Parts: sequence; C-alpha cells; structure tokens
Amino acid sequence: MLEQLAQLETEALQSLEEARTPEDLDRWYHAYLGRKGALTAILRSVGSLPPEERPTVGQRANEIKRRLEAAYNARAEVVRQDQLARELEAGALDVTLPGRPVGPGHLHITTRTLRQIYAIFAEMGFQVYEARDVETDEMNFGLLNMPPHHPAREMWDTFWITDDVLLRTHTSPGQIRVMRERYPEPIRVILPGKCYRYEQITARSEHQFFQVEGLAVGRHITMTDLIGTLTAFARRFYGAERRIRIRGSYFPFTEPSIEADIDCILCGGKGCRVCKYSGWLEIAGAGMVHPVVLSNGGYDPDEWSGFAFGLGVERPAMLKYGIDDIRLFYSNDLRFLHQF
Ligand code: FA5
Repeated sequence: MLEQLAQLETEALQSLEEARTPEDLDRWYHAYLGRKGALTAILRSVGSLPPEERPTVGQRANEIKRRLEAAYNARAEVVRQDQLARELEAGALDVTLPGRPVGPGHLHITTRTLRQIYAIFAEMGFQVYEARDVETDEMNFGLLNMPPHHPAREMWDTFWITDDVLLRTHTSPGQIRVMRERYPEPIRVILPGKCYRYEQITARSEHQFFQVEGLAVGRHITMTDLIGTLTAFARRFYGAERRIRIRGSYFPFTEPSIEADIDCILCGGKGCRVCKYSGWLEIAGAGMVHPVVLSNGGYDPDEWSGFAFGLGVERPAMLKYGIDDIRLFYSNDLRFLHQF
C-alpha cells in the first residue's frame, strides 16, 4: 500500500506539471483529490486495512494529501499568471479602460426626515440647538422634575457610563441647557439628536433613535400656541388635510401634559391595521413647561411660561413612507436605503 501511495504521488506531481489551463487543473483535482479522486479513495479505504497497517498508511496518505494540495495551489497561481500574460499579449484585456465608477452617495432617510422637520419649524421661527448625547443624571432626570427614585425614570432607563453620567434617553435635558444659556431672552428652538434607551428591539423600537424636541419660552405663551404649532407641523409634514386630536397625558416635566394624534394617514380615520383600528396615530408628547423646570432653567414661572414637545424621527418617517420595521433604518441594507 505504501508503495502504491509513493507511485501515486510521483504520478500526480508529474501530471500537475502538465496542467496549462484552469480546466486542466480542475480535471487534475478531480482525478486525485476530488470526492472520487484516487487519493481520496485510498484515504477512505484505510479503515478496512489490517489494524497494524492503518496508522502508517493513514499518516503517509495524509502527508501526501497536504503535499499535493500545496503543489496544486502553487501550480494554480502559475497557470493564472500565464493566462493573464497570454490575455495581455492577445490584447483581450484592456488595462487602460477606466474603472467602474463609484456611484455618488445620498442622504440617509433619517437625515432627510430631520431636514424636513428643520425646514418646517424654521418657517415658524424655530432655531436648531444641538445639545449633547452624553448627559448627567441631573440633566436627564433631576432638573426635569424626576428626582432619584421617581417612578418615571424606569420607563426611560438607559446606558450608564458612570453612576451619574449616562447616554440621554430623550432630548428634553437640552431644554435646561438652552434655558440656562439664553436667559433672559425669549426662546424658540428645536433640539434634534440621538437618544438611547435600555429597550427591547422590536419592529417599532430601537435602542438608539432620533428625537426632535421643541421649546418655546416667552411671556404670554399658552396651550393654544402649542396646539397651533403642532397642527401646523402635522399638516406640513403629513398632508394639508390632516386632523389633530389632543389628549390629556402625563410627563413629569410638563403641566398640563398632552399627547397629539393625527387622523390615520392610511385609512383617514376609518380604522386599519396601522392605527390599530382606532383611526388615530400618536405623533408627539407635549405640554406646558412645568414651573419647576422653568425655574431650574433660570426663568421665573410667575413671569414666564412656555411649551415643549417631543417628536420621534424614525416613527414619523415610517408612517409617511409606509415602512413597517424600524430595524431597517440602521441595518445598512442598500436595497432598503436606495429607495429614499
Ligand atoms: C419623551 O421622550 C418625552 N421627552 C417627550 C416630551 C418632550 C414630552 C417634551 C413633553 C415635552 P417618549 O418616551 O414618548 O417621550 O418619546 C417621544 C417619541 O420618541 C415617541 O413618540 C417616539 O416617536 C420616539 N421614541 C421613543 N422611544 C423610541 C424607540 N425605542 N425607538 C424609536 N422611537 C422611539
């Protein structure tokens, strides 16, 4: 058997030297190393040899297999180089042809949606104010009227960097920053940015997503101003025919608090799968800035009043473009991204 193996190796190496084309290489591989190749057959038969022969034959066969594989790879490289040289000589390969152009990129759907939102609020006199992603516990919770152990903290849990530094769960801490910076001027800003939550990822929820906060502080600002602003936004963003519904709600940093809905853009309010047969879709949480929050920002609540609202970015884009899974936004599938 050992002799047979040695003979097989010599013969295989000789015939490999004669391989000139990729087809020759394929044939050679099938003849010796393929599923039905000569060496494979020997390796398979090792088990049926007398026990004392098995280790030596098995070891030799494996050594030869490794040598043949190395020889095959080396020969394949030579064949490839030869073929390239032949093609170049024959003029079949024009190395002066320009490369394939790289297509120009385009804006991500989130960026486009953010810019639409900026444009709509810019027309109403709102400036863009960018606050920070990494916040203190005090800014994200404490100064927004959520002292330690406040139950509302739980639904806004996040990623903690240290015991009192975190990735913000909402854009609302920016309210305190902008108030402290602008006092005693009236304020009309939107605060866009990324938010982070300790959240189960689902078709509707990501653990990183964007929000746009709105804040207006002045001397005679009322709930009517807030409702008017949200209505104007909804009609510009979702369509001029939209109807708005305001519901009472609760946020620790606004008093009174509301939630704004629009009539479902898919069924117009009749009831469908998207609006869960209610006819309405939630678009923002909002309210009048809580007196405690105004004071924490440096504004005397007896003289000043204000409204604030918080919009998502991905969820409105999902409604507008009929996207049924938020995970598509950041999974980098170009087939999805190229559609916008
Ligand atoms: C807030 O974050 C409040 N700060 C909003 C607010 C601001 C109220 C100012 C009053 C005054 P909420 O947790 O509901 O509220 O989030 C607001 C919006 O962010 C949601 O309507 C939704 O569009 C978006 N959002 C929240 N969590 C997620 C998530 N996990 N994935 C994607 N979008 C989300």
